[in-house]
Amino acid sequence: MAGKERFEERGTGMVKEKCEKEAVCDTCDQSGSCTQQEKEAHAQARLASRLSCIKHRIMVMSGKGGVGKSTVATNLAVTLSQAGFYVGLLDADIHGPNIAKMVGMESKVVEGSAKGMIPIEVSPNLKVISMAFFIGDRDNPVVWRGPLKHSAISQFVGEVEWGDLDFLIADLPPGTGDESLSVAHVMKEVDGVVIVTTPQDVALLDSRKAVTFSRMLGIPVIGIVENMSGLICPHCHQEISLFKKGGGEKAARDLRVPFLGRIPIDPEMVTDCDRGIPFVISHPDSEATKAFKEIAHRCKDFVGFKNLEKQMERKNFPYHFQEQEVKR
Ligand SMILES: Nc1ncnc2c1ncn2[C@@H]1O[C@H](COP(=O)(O)OP(=O)(O)OP(=O)(O)O)[C@@H](O)[C@H]1O
Ligand code: SF4
Ligand SMILES: [Mg+2]
Repeated sequence: MAGKERFEERGTGMVKEKCEKEAVCDTCDQSGSCTQQEKEAHAQARLASRLSCIKHRIMVMSGKGGVGKSTVATNLAVTLSQAGFYVGLLDADIHGPNIAKMVGMESKVVEGSAKGMIPIEVSPNLKVISMAFFIGDRDNPVVWRGPLKHSAISQFVGEVEWGDLDFLIADLPPGTGDESLSVAHVMKEVDGVVIVTTPQDVALLDSRKAVTFSRMLGIPVIGIVENMSGLICPHCHQEISLFKKGGGEKAARDLRVPFLGRIPIDPEMVTDCDRGIPFVISHPDSEATKAFKEIAHRCKDFVGFKNLEKQMERKNFPYHFQEQEVKR
């Protein structure tokens, strides 16, 4: 059969056919002649091939909702792309996809080719995929169970024409549920997790879940970001600690993971988010942009460090040490 190569399955003596096609099975003219098993094997091979073109994979998560994950993921992706990296931004929030709106691409619809889906281009080196691009009526909720969500996330990685990427950043929904597990599973070797929290004392409780989740899956924690940390009064320019301060930093200290910095509350961020303009673009000189740049810098350093570790095949670099949680 054209596009397939016959091979003998190790140990069984059975002759099988390995599909060498670049096409996705749904658009393939031989779809009717392949078994489900063959199609699954093909999807796995495609996923592995896509992942081999993505240098670094980062997940942005939190223990609870509304703390600013999507804001951090978006501004992190934009900052890295502004620095010249090729970046993909994967919105893994199937029920509440916000990334499309945050980058001003809400009205776009994803087109397909024989090789897969074409991600939406925000700039020449920043591409985005989100469930929002597939929902006709934005008021209709996506009512999907785990397996369907897993399949969507798997397709967002394996069936999207990402091309060569330096970074693929996944924005997760709150908590440590199905989607978070699926992203970790599908992205295979995740370089690290950025955990977003708010400054209140309960930040430790919220962050602990995310840190434990990462440790259980063997994914390094790049660090904790304290978002909504203080408000600069637009009138007197003095800082107001609206939600207290320092909870994120304390959580990082107690959980023995790096602290990546504080992002202050900036009322303009909400307006920009609604207008679909990433904050680091509209406010390049603000305090919050400085914080986003520092976080991007730390992520870049972290993956560089990991690369070095891989090359040297060493297992005892400092971040492993830092992840040992304090025993109480
Ligand atoms: N530092 C900040 N200053 C002002 N507004 C902010 C800041 N960070 C986030 N916001 C606003 O808070 C709201 C929630 O942010 P965002 O959607 O990023 O949170 P989330 O953690 O992704 O939420 P969910 O858990 O629902 O996915 C948005 O309107 C966003 O613009
Ligand atoms: S349906 Fe899928 S597995 Fe079968 S030949 Fe086409 S691309 Fe290959
Ligand atoms: Mg979000």
